[in-house]
This record gives sequence, C-alpha cells and structure tokens, in this order.
Amino acid sequence: MSFKVTWLGHGSWAIEIDGYKGVLDPFLSGNPAASTDAGSVEADFILVTHGHGDHVSDVVPIAQRTGALVVCNADIAGWFRDKGVSNIHTQHLGGGYQHDFGHVKFTIAHHGSGLPDGSYGGNPAGMILTAKSGKKVYFAGDTALFMDMQLYAGCDLAILPIGDNFTMGPGDALKAVEFLKPKAVIPCHYNTWPLIQVDAEAWVDAVNSQTDTKAILLDPGGSYTIE
Ligand code: NI
Ligand code: MN
Repeated sequence: MSFKVTWLGHGSWAIEIDGYKGVLDPFLSGNPAASTDAGSVEADFILVTHGHGDHVSDVVPIAQRTGALVVCNADIAGWFRDKGVSNIHTQHLGGGYQHDFGHVKFTIAHHGSGLPDGSYGGNPAGMILTAKSGKKVYFAGDTALFMDMQLYAGCDLAILPIGDNFTMGPGDALKAVEFLKPKAVIPCHYNTWPLIQVDAEAWVDAVNSQTDTKAILLDPGGSYTIE
C-alpha cells in the first residue's frame, strides 16, 4: 500500500495513506503559494496542528463538502463545532490513536495556537502519522527547535518548517535534522511571503552534505512517496 505526501504550499499537505486521502493544515484560499484550491481537495480526514489562520482557514469548507473526519485538539474542535462541523476526533499532546487511515500521535510544538477571531486554540502540536506498514511521517507543524525532538527520532520522513521569523529558520532546522535522524526530510513554511523568504536549495544542500538524511526540495504541487 502507498504512503505519499504532496505539498500544497506553505504548511499545507495532501496525504495518501493506504487508500485513504487527507489534508494537514489546509490553507489554500488567500495562500499565494497554494498549488490547488479548497474546492478541489479530496479528503477522508483533515489533520489540524494548531489554530493559526494559515493552518485552519479552509478546514470548515473542506469538512462540510467532503464530510471528512477532523482531527484536532479539543479547543479548536469547539470552534469548528460552532461553525457546523460535527465529524471531529479530539486528541492532545502525547496522545496517540489508531484511526482507520493510520495512527496519529500528537507531539510537542513550541508555538501559539490562537484562532483567527482571537478565540483560544489550546496548545499547538506536531503529529506523527504511522501507516499500517509501520512507515512514519513526522509533521513538526509550526515550532521552534527543541531538545525533545530527539524523542521522535527515526521517522521515515520529517516535514519541517524552515522559513524563520515565525518558526525554526534554516540553522535550527538543520539541528532538528540532527536530532530527528529521519531517513528523508522535506522543508516547508518558507517563501510564501517575503517575511519568510529563505534559500531552501542551500538548506537542502547543507542537509545532504552534513547529515545522513536525504533532503528533498519540492515545489508546491510536488509529491514524495515514502519508501
Ligand atoms: Ni502558526
Ligand atoms: Mn504557520
């Protein structure tokens, strides 16, 4: 069975896992880097790492159109319920759950989670998504570098923000690769706006020359299949 991720631009991902389709942090309307639109996304599930607008803005329209299961923290779940979304599974930091599509574990992230209208969005998270084959992808979400990333070492793929200003920049993200020792890494959350402009090609070169991890540069719309 296949396990594939497609970068939709910024921090948004499409996921294909064992015949199920999902998205993580869909932000497509108003995203200058978006490779698709909210009306075209297919989803059986929607994973939400935190409440910021550039991560939740298209959750409600996609959930309402597709009926996808939304997986998020309890505080964000209340905000979605108020907007008419009912198919929601809540989890919290450190908690894992075996869903039909795969196992999701919420991991630590050092960031904020306030919702676009100022509502409380609980704690931000990263996520480890594990397929039935045992293949693991770590989505760091938006986060600073932290020592405990070492607890998540050994995933098949890590997806890390490198854009600086709001999250890790290239230097800290390189240190994160050293902590995580993933087989492969893909950068995201950069070059969406001038404020988070970085040289991603140089970062990929640094990872490939200084670590045992294979770094992959995607353009929005580009995919990677976890081997
Ligand atoms: Ni954020
Ligand atoms: Mn963000």
